[in-house]
Amino acid sequence: MASLTIRKLDDAIRDELRLRAARNGRSVEDEVRVILREASQHRPPPAVSATPEVSRVRSDADAGLPRVTLIIGGGIAAYKALDLIRRLKERHVHVRCVLTRAAQQFVTPLSASALSNERCYTDLFDPESEFDAGHIRLARDCELIVVAPATADLMAKMAQGHADDLASAILLAANRPILLAPAMNPLMWNHAATRRNVAQLERDGVAMIGPNAGEMAEAGEAGVGRMAEPLEIAATAERLLRPPQPRPLAGKRILITAGPTHEPIDPVRYIANRSSGKQGFAIAIAAQAAGADVTLISGPVDLDDPAGVTVKHVESAREMLHRVEAALPVDIAICAAAVADWRVANEGEQKLKKTSAGMPPLQLVENPDILATISKLPDKRPRLVIGFAAETENLIDNAKAKLARKGCDWIVANDVSPASGVMGGDRNTVHLLTRDDGDTGVDIRIESWPVMTKEQVATELVADPRPRAARAGAHRSYDCATTGLRGADPSALRPRIEARCHRAELAGHG
Ligand code: CTP
Repeated sequence: MASLTIRKLDDAIRDELRLRAARNGRSVEDEVRVILREASQHRPPPAVSATPEVSRVRSDADAGLPRVTLIIGGGIAAYKALDLIRRLKERHVHVRCVLTRAAQQFVTPLSASALSNERCYTDLFDPESEFDAGHIRLARDCELIVVAPATADLMAKMAQGHADDLASAILLAANRPILLAPAMNPLMWNHAATRRNVAQLERDGVAMIGPNAGEMAEAGEAGVGRMAEPLEIAATAERLLRPPQPRPLAGKRILITAGPTHEPIDPVRYIANRSSGKQGFAIAIAAQAAGADVTLISGPVDLDDPAGVTVKHVESAREMLHRVEAALPVDIAICAAAVADWRVANEGEQKLKKTSAGMPPLQLVENPDILATISKLPDKRPRLVIGFAAETENLIDNAKAKLARKGCDWIVANDVSPASGVMGGDRNTVHLLTRDDGDTGVDIRIESWPVMTKEQVATELVADPRPRAARAGAHRSYDCATTGLRGADPSALRPRIEARCHRAELAGHG
């Protein structure tokens, strides 16, 4: 029988073994026996995580949520910290609570655990959590530490760097942002010692919310010292956890067409194509996130309406054109729809029946070209009009011809041949053609983007949070601001792909 010397195992395996053994309350040797027994019975042993405590307690539903370690200090306002747990959870924040000894005079660990749906931590010398330096994990396995109520004593300890209990040890070990919600009697808040501590904590980069003015718990006392309301604290925490994104398209109205159109043959049949609408919807979502006021005109798709976007559902090309015209004027139009080129002129009012003569002949007539119509509007033409070119061959040549024929400013050309998997798929390989009507004629520039998800294509197309000065000179490729797109507002919508793109003449792409 082979023998195993645990000391001779790899460091990483030995550490994992120790963690696993400590978690299960066994000696390392016993843990090895259990693992071997499970392996011999062909049962996979439970995975050992680098952060076992966290993986054990975080439910699947909380996975991916921002995490707050909430330190509840010992003051009468501690009861409001229970409401704060709920307010944070409402905002989809995962909360783990630490109660100081004094806090436990006001609220129980059980209530904090029940509300946070997590184990609550109280003791620096708790063998169950300290076997792998629990106070360090509580300080680091989160995106934000909130102290509410932050008592005068806790703030003094923080300002001085004490670490003689779990709360102060976490605060000293923290390398995460800290938000304090002070709460104390007004005389304590105004005391010179507290003023010094507050000033020191502010210099240390600690954020504070409150205290507010109002009545104190002590009868007849009022002044500044009430803890900020849980809603205020939760809103501030959320701003720290999810800082507002840059909104380069704020104030811009964008119209987007997406999806296929259905052209009726009779009341039960129609002509359609394989467009899923995913690319147009992704652009609508990205433009909305960038601050634009977005109207999305969509043909029949199997996608949810994006939040914050005005969505108009249509069936046919003519309906789409009607809705587009009603949505004008806009600053930017992006035509991503795969509009059917033809419709049936002799659409049946009743279901067409089989006859002995075979299928009744369908007379097709051309549909209105929505992109060309918008691009050529004399008065309401958007300042920037972008079309798509869905091609199965001669991608660049066809896209170039389309750019000229439709009269738009930019064309996003993509290969939709069956082998590309673009139609209905999640990825896209695009080339962006931009037209520059200069004094010496029309100059068309092409950027070839790498394979991306449709969401990435959308983001690249609409977002450029960097100020123009930061871009100037950074790349040898062009800046749209200097290309003088006819009537376009280049600063409104610029691709941010200089780092990857190359400038090429059409000949090089054919
Ligand atoms: N488009 C449109 N209205 C139409 C046809 C196309 O608005 N009736 C727009 C599409 O939304 C896209 C661009 O025109 O932005 C090019 O569409 P595409 O289907 O690639 O080209 P077609 O115009 O249909 O030309 P072809 O059939 O020759 O490829």
